[in-house]
Amino acid sequence: MEIMKNRSYLRKLRIESNLKNYDEMKKHFKWSKFKKEIHWMEKDKLNTAVNSVDKHIGTVRENKVALIWEGEKGEEKKFTFREIYELSNRFANVLKKFKIKKGQRVFVLLQRVPELYYSHLGSIKYGAVAGTMFPAFGPDAIYDRLENSEAVALITDSELVKRVDEVKKKLPKLKHIFVIDKPKGKEIDFHKEMEKASEHFKPKALNPEDFAFMLYTSGTTGKPKGVLHAHRSALYEHLTAKWVLDIHDTDVYWCTADPGWVTGIAYGILGSWSNGATSLVYAGRFDAEKWYELIQKYSVTIWYTAPTAVRLLMGAGEETAKKFDLTSLRHLCSVGEPLNPEPIKWSLKVFGLPFHDNFWQTETGGIVIANYPSMKIKAGSMGKPFPGIHAAIVDDEGKELTAGKEGNLALKPPWPGLMKTIWKQKKRFDKYFLNKWYLTGDKAMKDSEGYFWFVGRGDDIIKTSGERVGPFEVESALISHPSVLEAGVIGKPDALKGEIIKAFVVLRKGVTPSDALKNELQMHVKKNYAGHAYPREIEFIEELPKTQSGKILRRVLKAKESGLDLGDTSTFAK
Ligand code: PRX
Repeated sequence: MEIMKNRSYLRKLRIESNLKNYDEMKKHFKWSKFKKEIHWMEKDKLNTAVNSVDKHIGTVRENKVALIWEGEKGEEKKFTFREIYELSNRFANVLKKFKIKKGQRVFVLLQRVPELYYSHLGSIKYGAVAGTMFPAFGPDAIYDRLENSEAVALITDSELVKRVDEVKKKLPKLKHIFVIDKPKGKEIDFHKEMEKASEHFKPKALNPEDFAFMLYTSGTTGKPKGVLHAHRSALYEHLTAKWVLDIHDTDVYWCTADPGWVTGIAYGILGSWSNGATSLVYAGRFDAEKWYELIQKYSVTIWYTAPTAVRLLMGAGEETAKKFDLTSLRHLCSVGEPLNPEPIKWSLKVFGLPFHDNFWQTETGGIVIANYPSMKIKAGSMGKPFPGIHAAIVDDEGKELTAGKEGNLALKPPWPGLMKTIWKQKKRFDKYFLNKWYLTGDKAMKDSEGYFWFVGRGDDIIKTSGERVGPFEVESALISHPSVLEAGVIGKPDALKGEIIKAFVVLRKGVTPSDALKNELQMHVKKNYAGHAYPREIEFIEELPKTQSGKILRRVLKAKESGLDLGDTSTFAK
């Protein structure tokens, strides 16, 4: 009872939002005015890991809890900023011992365990390029990323390393595999090395344009793209976490995203710790009761999640939420896919707070359009551009359209978070730009008050539970099965997941379609590509619709799926 009173009291303190007046800030905003918000090391040099962790050493935050970690079985660990600082220093020293060079790629393939967080920071601190991958990835997806990035080191565990073993022979550049539990053969014992390493490390002072971290993300065609972010993105992550997520020193903040996704890096490690938040990480799966229990147990104040999770909570019912004391919550945010008005109304009713939708992409390095705590929310809208970002709706020639017109959502470069490049694919990087605009690939509309409304993707990228999946990768995984001749993959609208993956499959001659085969194909994609990105629906068809140049017309498959008109068919193969 006493605790409950305290929590309600906390909320009633009415913490003032960091961004008090959006319009005023937008009018007078200059990036140079805010440069001092982050930590600079010497003469315009910085290191994004130093900015997130080391800068707190010697301040009142030094012994503050930075990370509250809870495992699937309820195990709990807490780390102060000092501890994260020392552990990441140790890991940087391990990289030094193994003679990793500045700019080389060091990847992590782990579940959400503490080792992931401090080794990622240690790699950045050392001057390596830190990369992450979803632990749901299978051998083929892992191979594509490690091969393309030419990663020299990998930190993983004894379970996940089995998937790496399947492709290791084809990865000659991957010299060092660190295993955090039970290493075998030539694998390096991560914790033994950590114990031997010093907790003191002089971090590299780097140029703002030097690479800090990379993430692979799906495009419509071809293999995934390695999106590279520079150390300058620290300023963007910091300021967006401060003004959109509204992180204060007093907050216990929970970002539910996995660090295999950019949200889990920019707002699960870098931007959130730069603002000194105590961050909660839960390593287990979604479970409505468990999630509420965590909020109650740790008095979470800020919660950043995705629409699919909100819909799942809605599905679990108001009664489930009522069993817990959730009055510590003071600010709720959502990202990754459209947030309809319905979940906002629901959260207002159940938590007494609305979810604030915001929009961004792996490539933008941080939130670019948002509903700010001090601004009126228009339910269903993504909000307004971050101060310092000029967003517009443009036509296919890159000409700005007036309010109320639907078109391509575009942003005016540069801004500190914008990706530096696409790894080894300059052409794919250049394709993002048109008439001095950065094109998001999304269709949207701006209303007369400057709010942006999401309309849909302008391409074939699938968004399932907020995660971005390229149809090409799923198609490739299907085709690698001996029974499959061709496959076309689309996103099919789904009330819970936003979209589910649907595959149209043409079988090889003599293969008989059956439900058992559908199952087998699903398992095949799960095992080789990714456990979370397999086709939930499979339909066998005789032939795929294609352009005359042989490209699969996914637009036609989509239309077929929803019973729509097939549109312009003049480029179809005859
Ligand atoms: O299509 C948009 C959708 O997600 C895409 C970016 O995916 P990804 O790079 O995986 O996301 C990184 C961090 C969010 C966008 O091009 N998207 C993202 N946020 C929203 C959204 N669609 C609608 N509303 C949003 N708030």
